[in-house]
Amino acid sequence: MTQDEMKKKAAEAALEYVVTDSIVGVGTGSTVNFFIDLLAEIKHKIEGAVSSSEASTERMKQHGIRVYDLNAVNELPVYIDGADESDHYLNLIKGGGGALTREKIIAGASDKFVCIADESKLVDVLGTFPLPVEVIPMARSFIARELVKLGGRPVWRDNFITDNGNIILDVHDFEILQPMKTEAEINKLPGVVTVGIFANRPADVLILGAPDGAKTVYSK
Ligand code: A5P
Repeated sequence: MTQDEMKKKAAEAALEYVVTDSIVGVGTGSTVNFFIDLLAEIKHKIEGAVSSSEASTERMKQHGIRVYDLNAVNELPVYIDGADESDHYLNLIKGGGGALTREKIIAGASDKFVCIADESKLVDVLGTFPLPVEVIPMARSFIARELVKLGGRPVWRDNFITDNGNIILDVHDFEILQPMKTEAEINKLPGVVTVGIFANRPADVLILGAPDGAKTVYSK
């Protein structure tokens, strides 16, 4: 089975978490794209969606799924999104697609965060995938120096501007042994918009696509 087929398996399994007549939080990335295509088939059962990126908004609109501004939404029972890595406690690294800030906002605003991924994303310790950090452009060099002090090797993501007009530093060679602590440390640097560690608000459910089907891991 290919990686894409495993992503699709996870996306299919996530459909059961969609609450009828509600607004669904929708993330970003190739796994979520499979989910959006499947959500389109049941769009008559939901009120609409909120989106974590311009790319997902565009894809949903093409499918005729109504996309709401988060400010217009009072209740978000579930948020479905992918991840670049998950540990066994469902702490995540996200932001490979650069949408981490809106993703973190929607994850925070939702009652249940269901993460979908292929099984290769499950790791013992976060950090093999370079950690994305969204940074205000004028703070780029300063934040890069601070990230070096924390032990990482930041690399400015080439030719990339986020939906919010900022840049991304991808931190390589950075083993994240204490996700919650490292998230807080990087968050407090002035000029950092969002760090791609999701530990303060981890996923509630992890669905991993595997050759023998989708496996569901709960954190609580
Ligand atoms: C987007 O910014 C990311 O957080 C994605 O959720 C993550 O990169 C997973 O993407 P794939 O589903 O494409 O692996």
